[in-house]
Amino acid sequence: MSRLPFLFIVTGIIGFAAYQVASLASLFGFLGDGIRGPSGWFHVHLFVLGWATMLAMGAVYQLIHVILQTPIYSERLGYVHYSVFTVGLAGLLYGFMSSDIRLIAVFASLAFIGILLFAWNMAVTLFRASRWNAVTLSAACSVSYLVLTGVSGMAMGINFATGWFNDYHENLFGAHIWMGTVGWFGLLITGFSYKMLPMFYLAHDYPTKPQSVVLLLWNSAAVVGALSFLAGGDGWFTWFALLLLAAAVVVYNVHLLQVKKKRHKRTPGSGIQWSLYCSQAFAFALIGALIYTGVFPDRLLSSDSVLMAGWLYLGGWVSFTILSYASKIVPFLWWTHKYGKRAGKPGTPVMADLLSDKKVNVGLTAIAASSLLLVAALAMGSEAFITIAGAALAASSAAYIALISFVFAR
Ligand code: HEM
Repeated sequence: MSRLPFLFIVTGIIGFAAYQVASLASLFGFLGDGIRGPSGWFHVHLFVLGWATMLAMGAVYQLIHVILQTPIYSERLGYVHYSVFTVGLAGLLYGFMSSDIRLIAVFASLAFIGILLFAWNMAVTLFRASRWNAVTLSAACSVSYLVLTGVSGMAMGINFATGWFNDYHENLFGAHIWMGTVGWFGLLITGFSYKMLPMFYLAHDYPTKPQSVVLLLWNSAAVVGALSFLAGGDGWFTWFALLLLAAAVVVYNVHLLQVKKKRHKRTPGSGIQWSLYCSQAFAFALIGALIYTGVFPDRLLSSDSVLMAGWLYLGGWVSFTILSYASKIVPFLWWTHKYGKRAGKPGTPVMADLLSDKKVNVGLTAIAASSLLLVAALAMGSEAFITIAGAALAASSAAYIALISFVFAR
């Protein structure tokens, strides 16, 4: 079995732990004092690139050959991608922290080259296999949005360094965040869930049409949202993108329930159950946000609304879903690597022995509860409350990721 997914997943876990430590060290000040500055850039990219993207790339390398039944185009290219992306990211984070434009320029370019190598590897693998369905199309679209997120990030970096196209910086900024969050993470999570959930629920004969509807709606939301920011026009254009996204999320949730209904395994494990609750909460929050910003349109793009929405989406849905899935992905990967050849022989543990489901449940419950506290603290705007809720979240997250990491010691 390839070691490539391990490298990404272990580095992602280190990124997650580093984010918790950095957030605690700054007492979550970066959330309270306006996020657009060196400290905000550092924390946000440590989270989105060092944790979520790193782990997502590992999951792609692990699952793509299960999905396509063919190996990845080039494993060696995967290792080059890992090295270039990781060095680029480490330098970029240092550059953000120290506000050093030259460092940002050099290392952002390296991280971007890493993203391009990943996209190339995926594109050749997908086109060679030519097995097009909602899962593979979602993966292809999500990686394309990652590339576009990198392009807009690079363009903002060039603007910082040269002052060129100053008037377009804010447009690029909105499109960058929208394509990274809704496009890259959104389509990757939904697409992979169509494979993961039936696998863990042992579900068969569920309808697959809703997957195509979600793919279409989600892509429309990603494109309309990005264009609305690039055009810099009317807020209602962005609101329409939010409406499309809400429709996509509702159909996605209906589909998840259809899969659950057709299950042959009663309990798929706490991680999978929590991922379902999280997607349902996401749908309710999004509908709430849609109604709220429909009634108060001036709140749509105000900085505190964007901060709250970004936190709910990235911390609440993206990261929580990844944490939930990690409780399945990591034991699967490790068990296959270490015990796969001895399966069924006396003394060989089964996969469920590697990670206690009860502890996973406690960990995810604590993270969910402290995330809700942080949302309340952000809504109240109280710095002290943000620090307390943030510390509770960091502590529960660190304990949970330690629990997942112990799988590698089994
Ligand atoms: C090579 C890749 C990337 C580069 C070079 C890059 C660059 C940048 C830059 C220069 C900014 C600051 C813009 C400003 O405040 O005016 C920024 C902000 C941001 N980026 Fe990226 N980015 C990259 C990838 C990503 C990805 C994959 C995401 C995923 C969601 C992302 C999410 C964000 C967010 C949420 C912000 C706003 C945070 C803040 O203002 O503190 N970025 N990025």
